[in-house]
Amino acid sequence: MNIQNTQALITGANRGLGLEFCKQLLPTGAVIWAGHRSEDPGELLDHLTGQYPDQIHPLQLNVASADSIQRAAARLEAQNERLDLLINNAGIFPRGETLGSLVEENLLQALKVNSIGALMLAQALLPLLRQGKSPKIINITSQLGSLERKLSGGNYSYTASKAALNMFTRALAADLREEEIIALAVHPGWVNTDMGGSRAPLGATDSVAGILALIDQLTIADSGKFYTWNGQIHPW
Ligand SMILES: NC(=O)c1ccc[n+]([C@@H]2O[C@H](COP(=O)([O-])OP(=O)(O)OC[C@H]3O[C@@H](n4cnc5c(N)ncnc54)[C@H](OP(=O)(O)O)[C@@H]3O)[C@@H](O)[C@H]2O)c1
Repeated sequence: MNIQNTQALITGANRGLGLEFCKQLLPTGAVIWAGHRSEDPGELLDHLTGQYPDQIHPLQLNVASADSIQRAAARLEAQNERLDLLINNAGIFPRGETLGSLVEENLLQALKVNSIGALMLAQALLPLLRQGKSPKIINITSQLGSLERKLSGGNYSYTASKAALNMFTRALAADLREEEIIALAVHPGWVNTDMGGSRAPLGATDSVAGILALIDQLTIADSGKFYTWNGQIHPW
């Protein structure tokens, strides 16, 4: 398993899929920088930190803020020699967007959180990733970001921001291929979280277990691809 004893940073780690990534990586011996947007890491992350005090470091990180990204990267560099795994998981899904009442600010905010923040964080962490063991940047995207599959209207900001994240993944993969740093886009499935809602057919446990199994087997030949949580290629 090349995922064992990984040094990882996970954004949006205080609930949902991000928290589940922490829960499943910690027993493998991973050291995790667990990003949380608000000042307070929250009860769930605090509980996990109590269980694994030597392995988990809560890290305030608002991916929509350039200052917050710089502060987080500086703290990591001061305390770490390498980073093996960056999981760009933080995301927002603005609801109720209809043509005729779209708001520019909302579109920009989704782009900042779901795509630009992920790219800027990857850039800020490159020096540490370059020192990493089989370094990987995993961008948690969505099937809704697929251009081929976009046949219905609405959800402008979410779908476009995930499509942008997919393109950033392609560009990162090409730029970093020679250095053998993998960049991947992964759709986690429709998952029962705050975002996915209770009607979602997939649990966070299964989604994250599938993604970690996929990450474990990645080679540089996979870089720049768009996968589903269970290891299938997803159409762009
Ligand atoms: N659930 C699904 O069915 C599904 C399907 C496809 C793709 N995805 C993707 O999977 C990822 C995780 O989704 P989820 O279902 O776990 O969603 P979730 O339960 O709504 O959790 C979202 C996480 O992102 C964090 N976040 C939001 N804005 C942030 C910011 N500016 N900076 C840092 N963190 C921020 C949230 O922090 P706060 O608690 O502070 O708000 C929270 O920890 C997202 O990228 C989502 O688009 C989910």
